[in-house]
Amino acid sequence: MDSFSQPVSLADDARPLVFPPDFRWGSSTSAYQIEGALDADGRGRCIWDGFTARGRILDGSSASVACDHYHRYPEDIALMAAAGFDSYRFSIAWPRILPAGAGAVEGRGLDFYDRLVDALLEAGITPIACLHHWDLPQPLEDAGGWQGRGIVGPFADYARIVAARLADRVRDWMMLNEPNVVALYGYGLGEHAPGLRLGEQGILRALHHQNLAQGAALRAVAAEHAGLTLGTVLNLQPVVADSDRPEDAAAAARWDAVWNRVALDGLMRGRIPDALAEAMAGFILPGDEEAIRHPVDLLGVNYYSRMTIRREAGRPFDAGWGDPRCRRRTDMGWPVQPEGLCDLLTELRTGYGNPAVMITENGCACDDVVTPDGQIHDADRVLFLHEHLESVARALADGCNVKGYLCWSLLDNFAWAEGLSKRFGIVRVDYDTLKRTPKDSYRYLAEVVRTGQL
Ligand code: NOJ
Repeated sequence: MDSFSQPVSLADDARPLVFPPDFRWGSSTSAYQIEGALDADGRGRCIWDGFTARGRILDGSSASVACDHYHRYPEDIALMAAAGFDSYRFSIAWPRILPAGAGAVEGRGLDFYDRLVDALLEAGITPIACLHHWDLPQPLEDAGGWQGRGIVGPFADYARIVAARLADRVRDWMMLNEPNVVALYGYGLGEHAPGLRLGEQGILRALHHQNLAQGAALRAVAAEHAGLTLGTVLNLQPVVADSDRPEDAAAAARWDAVWNRVALDGLMRGRIPDALAEAMAGFILPGDEEAIRHPVDLLGVNYYSRMTIRREAGRPFDAGWGDPRCRRRTDMGWPVQPEGLCDLLTELRTGYGNPAVMITENGCACDDVVTPDGQIHDADRVLFLHEHLESVARALADGCNVKGYLCWSLLDNFAWAEGLSKRFGIVRVDYDTLKRTPKDSYRYLAEVVRTGQL
């Protein structure tokens, strides 16, 4: 926690900003956000289908077409290849593989990912498969979802089924994506599917059962196929206290435990933070801490910003966040704090044994403008990417074990509760015609990949 709260200044660092020759480059997406084709090939319902139908999306849009990647994936792979990307992280839609969440397997769902993986390999792009990026099958949510341990077996079974089909060609596997966001927004604040507001206990339960399911899935995939690179994707945010006031410092420490450490310490150390031991005692059973610990070959880190925390009664864990002093913000309203990425990589190096890390998401929403000649000169996104890559380069120069950088995202996509209203892509998607147009940021990143330096 200490180094999370001591920002490193990058301003006077004059070292050359270069990346090693074997550094991996690419982009990330997720199934629900780009595939569309929600009724195709026997796919079952997921929690986001119902959440969308209940009118919970800001702009009233849905993911029913999204980028139509399900049908247009060859074009999207061609875009990655033309940028010189060598890696691609995508997610597999659980409801395409097991429409009821468990039981009968839908072969046509597996066939789609087979085709995708083969096309990636043919284009010279290494696939990184993420097993769960938020599209939980609805029947499993009806049975309690991440609130109970009934989900652990089905997730491990699903992981085994997918690995059995793809692990002969997919070497890199991520189990979950951002379990803290699922827990807080899905089960705490109700702003994401399944839209529940279960308070602190609901958040902690969702965290713990994702940890347990992740541990079981890691073991299932490892048993299915030898020699794989296994990991998971965490959204880590350095937590800083808003002031010197002891109540803000206490709120920040508590929030850091909830937001970063349950997942990180659970997986890497098999330990739940002491600060939460009492709050979680009601549902942690003997043996759970060993079950959630597993060696990680590659830790996926999603980074967007730091979190500035003050004590705010009435919020979960009395934590209020937001940084009123930060003037630079993305179109999501998130503060732009590139130095936080170096801070957290430093923390992983000094506090967690310098694990192999892949930046699995980093990027920003911008209010992109299409010029009369059809171009998107997204200078803000170029600057955002550049500053964050500087942060990564400096962490590398300090000895941080960073293996690659994947931007979020290849395409504009369905941005969950924000629907189609926020654009994160380095390639624009016209949602009327589904035409893809590379933005300036795409060309910027392609040039960094080509030269290996900033
Ligand atoms: C992280 C999530 O993994 C991704 O699905 C989301 O779209 C981005 N953050 C941007 O909000």
